[in-house]
Amino acid sequence: YCKPGSKCSGLRNFFGSKMCSALNDNLSGISGMEVDDRISYLEQRLQLQEDEIQVLKAALADVLRRLSTCEENGLSLQKKGPSKGIRVLVGRCWVWVSVRPSVCSVSHSGRSWASPERPVSLKREGIKDQRSRTTSSSSSCSGKRDGYDGYVKMFLRGRPIPMFVPDAVVATYSLDAKLDLPHKKLKLDWVYGYRGRDCRANLFLLPTGEIVYFVAAVAVLYNVEEQRQRHYLGHNDDIKCLAVHPDMVTIATGQVAGTSKDGKPLPPHVRVWDSVSLNTLHVLGPGPFDRAVSCVGFSKSNGGGLLCAVDDSNDHVLSVWDWQKEQKLADVKCSNESVLAATFHPTEPTLLITCGKSHIHFWTLEAGSLSKRQGIFEKHEKPKYVLCVAFTENGDTVTGDSGGNLYIWGKGGNRICHAVPGAHEGGIFGLCVLRNGTIVTGGGRDRRVVLWGRDYQKLQENEVPEGFGPVRTIAEGKGDSLFVGTTRNSVLHGSLATGFSLLVQGHTEELWGLATHPALDQFLTCGQDKQVHLWSVATHQPLWSKGIEDAARSAGFHPSGSVLVVGTVTGRWLVLDTETRDLVTIHTDGGEPISVVSFSPDGKYLALGSHDNFVYIYLVSEGGRKYGRVGKCSGHSSFITHLDWAFDSSCLVTNSGDYEILYWDPSTCRQITSAEAVRNMDWATATCVLGFGVFGIWPEGADGTDINAVCRSHDGKLLASADDFGKVHLFSYPCCQPRAPSHTYNGHSSHVTNIAFLHDDSLLLSTGGTDTSILQWRLV
Ligand SMILES: *[C@@H]1O[C@H](CO)[C@@H](O)[C@H](O)[C@H]1NC(C)=O
Ligand SMILES: *[C@@H]1O[C@H](CO)[C@@H](O)[C@H](O)[C@H]1NC(C)=O
Ligand SMILES: *[C@@H]1O[C@H](CO)[C@@H](O)[C@H](O)[C@H]1NC(C)=O
Repeated sequence: YCKPGSKCSGLRNFFGSKMCSALNDNLSGISGMEVDDRISYLEQRLQLQEDEIQVLKAALADVLRRLSTCEENGLSLQKKGPSKGIRVLVGRCWVWVSVRPSVCSVSHSGRSWASPERPVSLKREGIKDQRSRTTSSSSSCSGKRDGYDGYVKMFLRGRPIPMFVPDAVVATYSLDAKLDLPHKKLKLDWVYGYRGRDCRANLFLLPTGEIVYFVAAVAVLYNVEEQRQRHYLGHNDDIKCLAVHPDMVTIATGQVAGTSKDGKPLPPHVRVWDSVSLNTLHVLGPGPFDRAVSCVGFSKSNGGGLLCAVDDSNDHVLSVWDWQKEQKLADVKCSNESVLAATFHPTEPTLLITCGKSHIHFWTLEAGSLSKRQGIFEKHEKPKYVLCVAFTENGDTVTGDSGGNLYIWGKGGNRICHAVPGAHEGGIFGLCVLRNGTIVTGGGRDRRVVLWGRDYQKLQENEVPEGFGPVRTIAEGKGDSLFVGTTRNSVLHGSLATGFSLLVQGHTEELWGLATHPALDQFLTCGQDKQVHLWSVATHQPLWSKGIEDAARSAGFHPSGSVLVVGTVTGRWLVLDTETRDLVTIHTDGGEPISVVSFSPDGKYLALGSHDNFVYIYLVSEGGRKYGRVGKCSGHSSFITHLDWAFDSSCLVTNSGDYEILYWDPSTCRQITSAEAVRNMDWATATCVLGFGVFGIWPEGADGTDINAVCRSHDGKLLASADDFGKVHLFSYPCCQPRAPSHTYNGHSSHVTNIAFLHDDSLLLSTGGTDTSILQWRLV
């Protein structure tokens, strides 16, 4: 996690989280730190050193490549003078790489790597607006000077990245030209996913016929009958809790603390908004909340003028607000243990109840202070967690707990007046009192949904199908229908009589793989949760879902659409039949994540980019059903990140973790080192984040990992990018001016991992990494 005052190094650790590096690189301060801080400080130092090693390795690989080029070209080594060596700046140290005497003009590379006047350092460099006029060193050994003038060089984390300007542009190209904003904008059209994994009591039916819930930084209003969604987009990071006012129109949502792109804290706060107009009415905080607002609730009597909130600080502070005046009336340390629910009593205006780990507290609000009575369990089993709370018509408090017990606390009191021990096997996660006074409970381990009469007799029960996981929350729908949110991020709809079926499908872990169908309104997603979903844009539901053995990292369709490939973190890759989801074939290359898979436009080749630094090429036959390995492309000194094919399938270009751009011949797996051979290539896609056509996406002072994905529209006019700050950007294409202007969109609450246009460019899809959401944007 990145604490304020530290800067994300951009490199991810094993789990995909960002590591941090201290801004102030000063060892002398370390002795006074707490042990935890020292460990994290040392981790940061280690990360910085790993960065430097990475650059060093890249530099060496570069040198080795240049040497082998020279050797292949058969240059006589005796021709020139004494040993020169190459001086490259690696991190903060100059490194001499000694080479055999007189290796042609490698000193060119020394110059382009880092000139003493303008030292390159590991610090953020941003884009250097310099059109290099020097001869490119990559083929200066060949003896022929093939007019290399014209490349743009960009610097990322100390690495210069030369990008060739196509001949058609070179005469007129100017770095100072101004690019226009794109001719289209994005409007959030659909949100796939629901946050049930770690949030509670967050699904309600509104009188408008919409259900309201949240995922990532979006509050979703979903009209199931009309298949329409509306979205409240006022938050700038994860929403953690939601409450509906007794007027059934006003909504309160609370969010976590975040950090903006420029390192400014985004403090936790509560937003009160109108679910009809989507206008923000009031904002509570920032200020009093720490880490996150994890519970909110409106008062139910006296017009709902009060709001309670609990934050995620160590003391879990409970505060009560006059939300219309945005004024805090009282606060108190609630518990040193986690608090899972906070709510006002429906008829006693001064009574609040909080519950969570090892506690249930009854609070009385009087003269600006909150006084506590602990719930007393007496002879009843004291649960580890009190998980949920609701109120019966006569004002009794009902709780469900981790022991599976239903306890009824007499109105206003802190003693149990009735108990249903073992109402569920495992915990009771959800509790809902229906309009007719009966009570529905939802089980954690047993996944059962049970209806209880007013006298707590079991009346009816049903079960959530296994794949959707335990019940998280239950909301009453129209008639006898119920909505059930699950801990596996799905929402189901149904009734006790008929059972429950899928309404909202969610991914449950970090999401990376995204591919759109070449001809149909379908797209595929996959990720760490080992689930592959093929989605229909028309129904907003999966056409099919498939569990696989390994966590998935990447996906791509065959140009015919008949099969698709899923790359996994183990180096295994699967070919699936798009229609039947049957496994066509399975192969393994290397033992590391396959970060990118892509078929050539003619369907003849499949290229797989791996974290083991190789690109594996296969010859594809029988319409994507047979694969024969051509070989592996070796030359990158870091993991492969992105890959694009030429329109004519004659060549592919790759980007790597150390910001290199290399070109390959798929028929031989040989690197193409001649710039002239690739400078004017037309590329079928633009998913590489480094290249002349896209480099304008990089903001000032960018870290090389700030942008995770980029995608060109099929009409070639737009370019979308996905960044590490939860933003989706839309640019004009080509995007070859530094710091090109863009439209920027919120919604994701974690790094946006991937982005793709639908086949007809009507929609853009983006996947949020740890927020597990898929956002679908309409181009307008
Ligand atoms: C390093 O930290 C010490 C003590 O905090 C301070 O006196 C010194 O100026 C710092 N040096 C640099 C280079 O920041
Ligand atoms: C909370 O306080 C209790 C009693 O004071 C103590 O036993 C418990 O360890 C504390 N828990 C945490 C998480 O600090
Ligand atoms: C109360 O409502 C639920 C859900 O609509 C229904 O299943 C149940 O039969 C009703 N019970 C009574 C006593 O009306």
